[in-house]
Amino acid sequence: ERQGCQIDFENVSFAYEGASGDPVLKNISFTCLPGETIGIIGSTGSGKSSLVSLIPRFYDTSAGTIRVDGVDIGKLDPAKLRDQIAIVPQKSILFSGTIEENLRWGNEHAALDEIIQAAKMAEAHGFITSFPEGYETILGQRGVNLSGGQKQRLSIARALVRKPDVLILDDCTSALDTTTETNIKESLKSFASGVTCLLIAQRITSVMDADKIIVMDDGEIVGIGTHETLMKSCRVYVEIFQS
Ligand code: GTP
Repeated sequence: ERQGCQIDFENVSFAYEGASGDPVLKNISFTCLPGETIGIIGSTGSGKSSLVSLIPRFYDTSAGTIRVDGVDIGKLDPAKLRDQIAIVPQKSILFSGTIEENLRWGNEHAALDEIIQAAKMAEAHGFITSFPEGYETILGQRGVNLSGGQKQRLSIARALVRKPDVLILDDCTSALDTTTETNIKESLKSFASGVTCLLIAQRITSVMDADKIIVMDDGEIVGIGTHETLMKSCRVYVEIFQS
Protein backbone atom coordinates (compact mmCIF):
# COMPACT_ATOMS: atom_id res chain seq x y z
CA GLU A 1 0.00 0.00 0.00
CA ARG A 2 1.18 3.45 -0.89
CA GLN A 3 1.88 5.72 2.09
CA GLY A 4 2.61 9.05 0.45
CA CYS A 5 5.54 11.15 1.52
CA GLN A 6 5.84 13.77 4.20
CA ILE A 7 7.11 17.08 2.85
CA ASP A 8 8.66 19.74 5.08
CA PHE A 9 9.66 23.22 4.03
CA GLU A 10 11.78 25.01 6.63
CA ASN A 11 12.55 28.70 6.12
CA VAL A 12 12.89 28.26 2.36
CA SER A 13 13.78 31.23 0.22
CA PHE A 14 14.32 31.16 -3.50
CA ALA A 15 15.40 33.54 -6.26
CA TYR A 16 15.79 32.67 -9.94
CA GLU A 17 19.38 32.86 -11.07
CA GLY A 18 20.28 36.26 -12.44
CA ALA A 19 16.96 37.79 -11.41
CA SER A 20 17.22 41.10 -9.60
CA GLY A 21 15.00 42.40 -6.83
CA ASP A 22 13.11 40.51 -4.17
CA PRO A 23 13.35 36.71 -3.97
CA VAL A 24 10.37 34.92 -5.51
CA LEU A 25 9.87 32.91 -2.29
CA LYS A 26 10.57 34.29 1.17
CA ASN A 27 10.91 32.24 4.31
CA ILE A 28 8.44 29.49 3.43
CA SER A 29 7.72 26.94 6.17
CA PHE A 30 5.00 24.29 6.20
CA THR A 31 4.50 20.57 6.66
CA CYS A 32 2.47 18.29 4.47
CA LEU A 33 1.77 14.97 6.17
CA PRO A 34 1.78 11.66 4.27
CA GLY A 35 -1.46 11.27 2.36
CA GLU A 36 -2.63 14.82 2.97
CA THR A 37 -4.06 17.03 0.27
CA ILE A 38 -2.82 20.60 0.45
CA GLY A 39 -4.35 23.36 -1.62
CA ILE A 40 -2.22 26.32 -2.70
CA ILE A 41 -3.92 29.53 -3.68
CA GLY A 42 -2.79 33.09 -4.33
CA SER A 43 -2.78 35.77 -6.98
CA THR A 44 -0.87 35.37 -10.23
CA GLY A 45 2.87 35.73 -9.71
CA SER A 46 2.65 35.04 -5.97
CA GLY A 47 5.07 32.11 -6.29
CA LYS A 48 2.86 29.00 -6.32
CA SER A 49 4.49 27.28 -9.31
CA SER A 50 7.96 28.24 -8.10
CA LEU A 51 7.22 26.69 -4.71
CA VAL A 52 6.22 23.29 -6.08
CA SER A 53 9.04 23.26 -8.65
CA LEU A 54 11.52 23.09 -5.76
CA ILE A 55 10.18 19.73 -4.54
CA PRO A 56 11.53 17.61 -7.45
CA ARG A 57 14.57 19.93 -7.47
CA PHE A 58 13.88 21.58 -10.81
CA TYR A 59 15.60 24.43 -8.97
CA ASP A 60 17.59 24.49 -5.74
CA THR A 61 16.64 26.66 -2.80
CA SER A 62 18.64 29.82 -2.06
CA ALA A 63 18.21 29.28 1.69
CA GLY A 64 16.44 26.88 4.00
CA THR A 65 15.73 23.16 3.76
CA ILE A 66 13.16 20.95 2.07
CA ARG A 67 12.79 17.42 3.44
CA VAL A 68 10.98 14.45 1.96
CA ASP A 69 10.24 11.85 4.63
CA GLY A 70 12.71 13.61 6.87
CA VAL A 71 15.62 13.61 4.43
CA ASP A 72 17.08 16.84 3.02
CA ILE A 73 16.29 16.60 -0.72
CA GLY A 74 19.75 18.02 -1.43
CA LYS A 75 21.08 14.68 -0.20
CA LEU A 76 18.71 12.51 -2.26
CA ASP A 77 19.43 11.06 -5.69
CA PRO A 78 17.51 13.44 -8.01
CA ALA A 79 16.42 10.61 -10.31
CA LYS A 80 14.93 8.66 -7.41
CA LEU A 81 13.29 11.79 -6.03
CA ARG A 82 11.70 12.63 -9.38
CA ASP A 83 10.50 9.08 -9.74
CA GLN A 84 8.33 9.53 -6.62
CA ILE A 85 6.82 12.82 -7.74
CA ALA A 86 4.46 13.58 -10.61
CA ILE A 87 3.80 17.19 -11.56
CA VAL A 88 0.98 18.05 -13.91
CA PRO A 89 2.09 21.39 -15.34
CA GLN A 90 -0.11 24.39 -16.10
CA LYS A 91 0.32 23.83 -19.80
CA SER A 92 -0.15 20.24 -20.94
CA ILE A 93 2.76 18.80 -22.85
CA LEU A 94 1.52 16.18 -25.30
CA PHE A 95 3.54 14.90 -28.24
CA SER A 96 2.68 13.62 -31.70
CA GLY A 97 1.86 9.99 -31.15
CA THR A 98 -1.04 7.89 -30.00
CA ILE A 99 -3.05 8.66 -26.88
CA GLU A 100 -1.74 5.43 -25.36
CA GLU A 101 1.89 6.44 -26.00
CA ASN A 102 1.22 9.83 -24.47
CA LEU A 103 -0.31 8.30 -21.36
CA ARG A 104 2.48 5.78 -20.98
CA TRP A 105 5.17 8.47 -21.11
CA GLY A 106 7.07 8.35 -17.82
CA ASN A 107 6.02 4.75 -17.11
CA GLU A 108 6.91 2.64 -20.14
CA HIS A 109 5.96 -0.60 -18.38
CA ALA A 110 2.38 0.32 -17.58
CA ALA A 111 -0.14 -2.26 -18.75
CA LEU A 112 -3.03 -1.12 -20.94
CA ASP A 113 -5.57 -1.77 -18.18
CA GLU A 114 -3.61 0.49 -15.80
CA ILE A 115 -3.67 3.17 -18.47
CA ILE A 116 -7.40 2.78 -18.93
CA GLN A 117 -7.95 2.93 -15.15
CA ALA A 118 -5.96 6.17 -14.95
CA ALA A 119 -7.88 7.63 -17.89
CA LYS A 120 -11.16 6.75 -16.19
CA MET A 121 -10.09 8.52 -12.98
CA ALA A 122 -9.11 11.59 -14.99
CA GLU A 123 -12.47 11.62 -16.79
CA ALA A 124 -10.72 10.99 -20.10
CA HIS A 125 -11.85 7.45 -20.94
CA GLY A 126 -15.18 8.65 -22.30
CA PHE A 127 -13.86 11.05 -24.91
CA ILE A 128 -10.96 8.72 -25.79
CA THR A 129 -13.31 5.85 -26.58
CA SER A 130 -15.56 8.17 -28.58
CA PHE A 131 -12.76 8.42 -31.17
CA PRO A 132 -12.96 5.58 -33.74
CA GLU A 133 -9.37 4.60 -32.98
CA GLY A 134 -9.76 4.89 -29.19
CA TYR A 135 -6.45 4.71 -27.37
CA GLU A 136 -4.70 4.34 -30.74
CA THR A 137 -5.89 7.78 -31.84
CA ILE A 138 -2.98 9.86 -33.06
CA LEU A 139 -2.52 13.31 -31.54
CA GLY A 140 -0.72 16.28 -32.99
CA GLN A 141 -0.28 17.80 -36.40
CA ARG A 142 -1.37 14.76 -38.36
CA GLY A 143 -3.93 13.62 -35.82
CA VAL A 144 -6.90 14.89 -33.88
CA ASN A 145 -7.08 18.26 -32.22
CA LEU A 146 -8.04 18.16 -28.58
CA SER A 147 -9.69 20.89 -26.56
CA GLY A 148 -7.79 22.49 -23.68
CA GLY A 149 -9.86 20.56 -21.16
CA GLN A 150 -9.24 17.24 -22.95
CA LYS A 151 -5.50 17.91 -22.92
CA GLN A 152 -5.63 18.67 -19.21
CA ARG A 153 -7.42 15.40 -18.53
CA LEU A 154 -4.80 13.44 -20.51
CA SER A 155 -2.02 15.15 -18.53
CA ILE A 156 -3.69 14.20 -15.26
CA ALA A 157 -4.16 10.61 -16.47
CA ARG A 158 -0.50 10.44 -17.48
CA ALA A 159 0.54 11.48 -13.97
CA LEU A 160 -1.73 8.84 -12.42
CA VAL A 161 -0.26 6.10 -14.63
CA ARG A 162 3.05 6.76 -12.90
CA LYS A 163 1.54 5.92 -9.48
CA PRO A 164 3.50 8.65 -7.70
CA ASP A 165 3.91 9.07 -3.93
CA VAL A 166 3.50 12.83 -4.41
CA LEU A 167 1.07 14.24 -6.95
CA ILE A 168 1.28 17.93 -7.79
CA LEU A 169 -1.44 19.50 -9.88
CA ASP A 170 -0.41 22.98 -11.00
CA ASP A 171 -3.61 24.77 -11.88
CA CYS A 172 -4.43 22.10 -14.41
CA THR A 173 -8.20 22.00 -14.01
CA SER A 174 -8.82 25.58 -15.12
CA ALA A 175 -10.25 24.52 -18.48
CA LEU A 176 -12.62 21.97 -16.95
CA ASP A 177 -16.21 22.58 -15.98
CA THR A 178 -16.88 22.21 -12.26
CA THR A 179 -18.71 18.88 -12.63
CA THR A 180 -15.75 17.28 -14.40
CA GLU A 181 -13.37 18.81 -11.89
CA THR A 182 -15.43 17.49 -8.98
CA ASN A 183 -15.60 14.01 -10.52
CA ILE A 184 -11.83 13.91 -10.96
CA LYS A 185 -11.30 15.05 -7.39
CA GLU A 186 -13.65 12.34 -6.15
CA SER A 187 -11.72 9.60 -7.96
CA LEU A 188 -8.45 11.11 -6.81
CA LYS A 189 -9.64 10.76 -3.23
CA SER A 190 -9.86 6.99 -3.59
CA PHE A 191 -6.70 6.72 -5.68
CA ALA A 192 -4.89 9.28 -3.63
CA SER A 193 -5.79 7.95 -0.20
CA GLY A 194 -2.12 7.10 0.20
CA VAL A 195 -0.78 9.87 -1.99
CA THR A 196 0.42 13.25 -0.84
CA CYS A 197 -1.27 15.78 -3.04
CA LEU A 198 -0.48 19.44 -3.69
CA LEU A 199 -3.15 21.25 -5.60
CA ILE A 200 -2.53 24.74 -7.02
CA ALA A 201 -5.71 26.52 -8.02
CA GLN A 202 -7.19 29.85 -9.01
CA ARG A 203 -10.66 29.14 -7.67
CA ILE A 204 -11.35 28.66 -3.96
CA THR A 205 -13.91 25.99 -4.86
CA SER A 206 -11.04 23.86 -6.25
CA VAL A 207 -9.23 23.73 -2.90
CA MET A 208 -12.03 24.22 -0.36
CA ASP A 209 -12.10 20.60 0.81
CA ALA A 210 -8.31 20.16 1.06
CA ASP A 211 -6.89 19.11 4.46
CA LYS A 212 -5.28 22.51 4.57
CA ILE A 213 -4.83 25.43 2.25
CA ILE A 214 -1.73 27.57 1.86
CA VAL A 215 -2.39 31.18 0.88
CA MET A 216 0.47 32.84 -1.01
CA ASP A 217 0.94 36.55 -1.49
CA ASP A 218 4.00 38.11 -3.07
CA GLY A 219 6.30 35.15 -2.30
CA GLU A 220 5.15 34.70 1.26
CA ILE A 221 2.71 32.44 3.06
CA VAL A 222 0.04 34.70 4.53
CA GLY A 223 -2.25 31.96 5.80
CA ILE A 224 -2.40 28.21 6.36
CA GLY A 225 -5.51 26.40 7.50
CA THR A 226 -8.84 24.96 6.54
CA HIS A 227 -11.36 26.92 4.48
CA GLU A 228 -13.36 27.77 7.61
CA THR A 229 -10.32 29.00 9.54
CA LEU A 230 -9.02 31.07 6.64
CA MET A 231 -12.42 32.68 6.03
CA LYS A 232 -12.24 33.96 9.61
CA SER A 233 -8.56 34.83 9.79
CA CYS A 234 -6.99 35.55 6.38
CA ARG A 235 -7.78 38.78 4.58
CA VAL A 236 -6.10 37.70 1.31
CA TYR A 237 -8.11 34.47 1.29
CA VAL A 238 -11.38 36.30 1.82
CA GLU A 239 -10.46 38.69 -1.01
CA ILE A 240 -9.84 35.76 -3.38
CA PHE A 241 -13.11 34.21 -2.22
CA GLN A 242 -15.01 37.40 -3.00
CA SER A 243 -13.36 38.10 -6.36
P1 GTP B 1 0.52 31.98 -11.78
O1 GTP B 1 1.00 30.72 -12.37
O2 GTP B 1 0.40 33.09 -12.75
O3 GTP B 1 -0.72 31.82 -10.95
O4 GTP B 1 1.67 32.50 -10.76
P2 GTP B 1 2.41 31.70 -9.60
O5 GTP B 1 1.80 32.07 -8.31
O6 GTP B 1 2.50 30.27 -9.93
O7 GTP B 1 3.85 32.38 -9.60
P3 GTP B 1 5.21 31.84 -10.24
O8 GTP B 1 5.87 30.96 -9.25
O9 GTP B 1 4.97 31.32 -11.60
O10 GTP B 1 6.02 33.19 -10.38
C1 GTP B 1 6.51 33.92 -9.25
C2 GTP B 1 7.48 34.98 -9.75
O11 GTP B 1 8.61 34.33 -10.32
C3 GTP B 1 6.93 35.89 -10.83
O12 GTP B 1 7.38 37.18 -10.56
C4 GTP B 1 7.53 35.35 -12.11
O13 GTP B 1 7.73 36.37 -13.02
C5 GTP B 1 8.86 34.80 -11.62
N1 GTP B 1 9.31 33.64 -12.45
C6 GTP B 1 8.62 32.52 -12.72
N2 GTP B 1 9.35 31.68 -13.47
C7 GTP B 1 10.55 32.29 -13.69
C8 GTP B 1 11.74 31.91 -14.38
O14 GTP B 1 11.85 30.83 -14.96
N3 GTP B 1 12.78 32.82 -14.36
C9 GTP B 1 12.69 34.01 -13.71
N4 GTP B 1 13.74 34.83 -13.72
N5 GTP B 1 11.58 34.38 -13.05
C10 GTP B 1 10.52 33.55 -13.03
